[in-house]
Amino acid sequence: MQHILEELDRRREQARAGGGEARVAAQHAKGKLTARERIDLLLDEGSFEEFDMFVEHRGTEFGMAEQKVPGDGVVTGWGTINGKVVYVFSKDFTVFGGSLSGAHAAKIVKVQRQAMKVGAPIIGLFDAGGARIQEGVDSLAGYADIFLENVMASGVVPQISVIMGPCAGGDVYSPAMTDFIFMVRDTSYMFVTGPDVVKTVTNEVVTAEELGGARVHAAKSGVAEGAFENDLEALTQVRRLVDFLPSSNRQAAPERESFDDPHRAEPSLDSLIPADPGKPYDIKELILKIVDEADFFEISSEWAKNIVCGFARMDGESVGIVANQPQVLAGVLDIDSSRKAARFV
Ligand code: HXC
Repeated sequence: MQHILEELDRRREQARAGGGEARVAAQHAKGKLTARERIDLLLDEGSFEEFDMFVEHRGTEFGMAEQKVPGDGVVTGWGTINGKVVYVFSKDFTVFGGSLSGAHAAKIVKVQRQAMKVGAPIIGLFDAGGARIQEGVDSLAGYADIFLENVMASGVVPQISVIMGPCAGGDVYSPAMTDFIFMVRDTSYMFVTGPDVVKTVTNEVVTAEELGGARVHAAKSGVAEGAFENDLEALTQVRRLVDFLPSSNRQAAPERESFDDPHRAEPSLDSLIPADPGKPYDIKELILKIVDEADFFEISSEWAKNIVCGFARMDGESVGIVANQPQVLAGVLDIDSSRKAARFV
């Protein structure tokens, strides 16, 4: 019995070590946390229950049979955020660049299906180079399975993606189908493929930032709903977002105790909106005054600023807010602001 327990401990150690010390050090040197460190920050302390820690890939081509890491580049399971159950997968860039094999895909699909079954949000932490090149079509088929579950989960449970490293191929197509995408400034990228492959194929030289950095997607394309300074801030904001959302379409939006009297008078509103309709004012100032405890979670704050969207609470109940912003382009609706509002609704 003792030797079985020792073997179990050895394999757990191996799974926790991911791609090894040198690659973990390289990850930290880039200002990024590891897949497991991210899960620890995202979830309530000690709440994480891991699935499939010892799963390995089944590839044999290109010497892959000799290169196996337990867990195969993705940490999956469930835990809680402020007591609410959420399902999580976190890509490990230190193992084959977090790339997706058939076995790796099956781990993610299991989490997606389980979340739908119990009615809980799915949170994906991405830091990965897409389809595992060595596995070819087995990997592509794995993405097809994940994309199908993305579609099935849409409108059923919230799907949140956090882009936390250079992400390519399927590791951006799948997040692009989810409800909320957050990025980390200067370390995360969303592109079809990386700058080196672009140079080889098209002979064009482009930086990772120009190709799909957080600034591009949060301010120009509108693909990302938020861009944050570092891993810690991004994960803290996911925790905040989850607090506003119902766990599934079978549940009402969460309520929590409010310290603001819903019948309070706010005299400054009398003068906030100018008598002259030609004069602009800041709608966000108005929002902060009417919601509970001035707590407003803005979505896509850097894109299509002529409309403001986000979550807040009124008398303790979660609400979604969509408001024209007279301060930017006189608050008119154009293509981007219409898309932003429609997507949010
Ligand atoms: C296997 C991969 C990999 C991949 C990276 N690695 N991407 N291994 N399959 N797709 C490995 C590298 O070989 C390297 O291994 C380690 O991960 C780190 O990668 P680097 O290139 O050294 O890191 P970096 O310079 O930061 O660049 C990261 C990157 C780049 C931008 C993600 O690696 C890249 O462009 N990769 C290819 C992206 C791509 O074209 N993916 C396929 C997309 S097609 P070592 O051993 O050196 O540490 C797709 C189809 C989906 O996904 C469609 C579904 C239907």
